[in-house]
Amino acid sequence: MDVREKYEAFKALVTERKAEFEALMDFVENETSYLTAPASTRFHLSREGGLLEHSVNVCENMLKLRAALAPEVTEESCVITALLHDLGKAGMPGHPLYIPNQPTAKQKQYGYGPSVPYRTTEKLTYLSVPVRSLYLISAHFPLTEEEAQAIVYHDGQYVEDNRSVATKECPLLFLLQYADSWSCFVTERKQR
Ligand SMILES: [Fe+2]
Repeated sequence: MDVREKYEAFKALVTERKAEFEALMDFVENETSYLTAPASTRFHLSREGGLLEHSVNVCENMLKLRAALAPEVTEESCVITALLHDLGKAGMPGHPLYIPNQPTAKQKQYGYGPSVPYRTTEKLTYLSVPVRSLYLISAHFPLTEEEAQAIVYHDGQYVEDNRSVATKECPLLFLLQYADSWSCFVTERKQR
C-alpha cells in the first residue's frame, strides 16, 4: 500500500465520531496545506507531502504499539492523534508554516539552490506546533481530554515546556510520543 492508501485506511478506523471527523478532515485537506506540507524545514521528510508521510508513519507505529501494550485504548483515538498531532505544521488556512526557501545571492551567482529546502514563515503569530494543532482541531472537532493531552505534550520531556505533564501522562500520550520518536529517528531515517 502506498502512503495515500494507508492514510485512507487509517481514516476509516474512526467510526464513533465519524461525521465530526469527516468535517474536520474536509477542513484539514481542503483549507490547509496538510497534504502538501513538508514534515520539517531541514530534518525529517523535508519534502512536499512529508507531513502526510510522517503522520501515516506515526499512525502505523502507534497502532502497533497500541496492539502490543494498550489494547484498551481505542484505535480511533490513536488515528486522530497520530494523523493530526503535527497539523500545526500546516500553518493557518492560506498561510503555510513552512515555505520554500530561496537561494542567497551568492548561491544564485554560483548556480546553487538554497542550503535548506524550507524556512518558517514570519506571517503567523507564534504558537508552538502542538498548540497550533490543538487550536486548529478544536475549532472543528470534539477531542477527548486524553486526546488533547496527547497532542499538546507529544514531544514529551524533550521539550522544557512539557515539564508540567511529567508523571501525569495518560497511556495515549505515551503511545503517541513513542510512535512519533520511533517514526522520526528510526523509520524516517531509512526513508530519506
Ligand atoms: Fe511528529
